[in-house]
Amino acid sequence: QGTQETPAGEPSAESTGQTISKEVTILYGSQTGNAQGLAENTGKKLEENGFQVTVSSMSDFKPNNLKKVQNLLIVVSTHGEGDPPDNALSFHEFLHGRRAPKLDELRFSVLSLGDSSYEFFCQTGKEFDQRLEELGGKRLSPRVDCDLDYDEPAAEWLEGVFAGLSEAQGVSSAPPQAAAPQGSVAEYSRTNPFKAEVLENLNLNGRGSNKETRHVELSLEGSGLTFAPGDSIGVYPENDPALVDMLLEEMKWDPEEIVTVNKQGDVRPLREALISHFEITVLTKPLLEQAAKLSGNEDLRELLSTGNEEKLKGYLDGRDLLDLVRDFGPWGVSAQELITILRKMPARLYSIASSLSANPDEVHLTIGSVRYETHGRERKGVCSILCAERLQPGDTLPVYIQHNQNFKLPNDPDRPIIMVGPGTGIAPFRSFMQEREETGAEGKSWLFFGDQHFVTDFLYQTEWQNWLKDGVLTKMDVAFSRDTDEKVYVQNRMLEHSKELFEWLQEGAAVYICGDEKKMAHDVHQTLLKIIEKEGGMSSEQAEDYLADMQQQKRYQRDVY
Ligand code: 2AM
Repeated sequence: QGTQETPAGEPSAESTGQTISKEVTILYGSQTGNAQGLAENTGKKLEENGFQVTVSSMSDFKPNNLKKVQNLLIVVSTHGEGDPPDNALSFHEFLHGRRAPKLDELRFSVLSLGDSSYEFFCQTGKEFDQRLEELGGKRLSPRVDCDLDYDEPAAEWLEGVFAGLSEAQGVSSAPPQAAAPQGSVAEYSRTNPFKAEVLENLNLNGRGSNKETRHVELSLEGSGLTFAPGDSIGVYPENDPALVDMLLEEMKWDPEEIVTVNKQGDVRPLREALISHFEITVLTKPLLEQAAKLSGNEDLRELLSTGNEEKLKGYLDGRDLLDLVRDFGPWGVSAQELITILRKMPARLYSIASSLSANPDEVHLTIGSVRYETHGRERKGVCSILCAERLQPGDTLPVYIQHNQNFKLPNDPDRPIIMVGPGTGIAPFRSFMQEREETGAEGKSWLFFGDQHFVTDFLYQTEWQNWLKDGVLTKMDVAFSRDTDEKVYVQNRMLEHSKELFEWLQEGAAVYICGDEKKMAHDVHQTLLKIIEKEGGMSSEQAEDYLADMQQQKRYQRDVY
């Protein structure tokens, strides 16, 4: 639609026009690095096929240049309640605002990443897609929405984009050639994880704490893997064998039955497949829809019918596969049929807690144990409880490094840094301090840490106190929320020091927040605005602009979950 095809056989009339349309701009909005990785990969493949490609974070792209773009590819993820990643916020706002230009000349396509266990699945991608059309853009190829296991749909999207780009130019071309890694050493990655040996596995919390936080040290020896402070590590966990056994029993399945676990036709005994290959602790709407198709269960169909959205949401919340099979039996389906509709076991991402220069060939993790009761049964976090209850030194864990360009120490070692990391949010700051100590960086640093109790929950306490003594850490303020009658949080401490904190900002300090997104990071953000308003004598709009400017300069970075 909209594009005119050159009749076959005739040489293209405007060879100039053709060279222009060989230009492709790829913009990504990425929180954890997946969308960025896909954008860069897409760029590489298109370049190998003769396109001139610009790949850029949405936050680095000047929106006024949008009118000059002919071919635009958007790769963007969605977070929380349908929110854009931090580095997509300003561009998203610009496009949806009144200053958004008409884009009648634009051809575009959107690849959106998400998680189908969330209500607003791929929301941000959907919004970009719809908005670009409203502004006059024409789709090169349809949007593709990816669930956690995004490799295949992303490859299909790329094929569609390539066909669209070629068609728009009136040339028929072979599909994009994947770079053949022939002869080169196997590189470890998300799709080819390294089996890292466990060197150490300790509980950081003291006796009597409400919490358990594991400090896990892994060996990267022989992997060739490297990382920078701020990067994350992806871990492929195993499901709790006890939960798998309950499932097998409930379904009267034979644990030794041989089943196919992927499209390539690899086979495993059923019990092993359920432990290592599939997600069994989260329910999604697409899973229930496929299950309803398999079993024809009336109650399940009813739950999925129009008008029952709220009820469905309530059902999905906190339930797992065992609940599903118990609540909607009898099933009358084979184990193979049921596991084929499950999602592949997704990796868990943890902010790395060590620096490679301080601990060569090692990577340290700080993992909060997740245990709670809901719907009449004790529930356990898959990865955290594997680490807490079953993982021993000498065991291995499949891991990969996820580089995170959105959480980096300043290039300038003299630039002051302010670190806000309550609970396990402390992890990347341990890495920051190790790195700054090891490299002899001279910039000032200030830590805000919080947890429930000083005596039991001050994670890495002696390390922080030593850094403070040695001057690697300049200032430290802690908030132990349950040691006093009234709760104190990190943001209370920030406010108490608002004058000095604002002076640091004026000196160019970079602010980092790591930890809980919904409550903590939101409240800390509001507190920062308050401090800027108060100490800078600004209106609330000016304070917003001040913080937005800091974000633009990468002096305000968040690693939140
Ligand atoms: P609480 O559990 O006593 O409420 C790490 O989990 C620390 O973060 C705990 O001390 C916890 O306090 C605190 N915390 C909880 N909600 C918070 C919020 N909205 N902002 C900052 N810290 C918070």
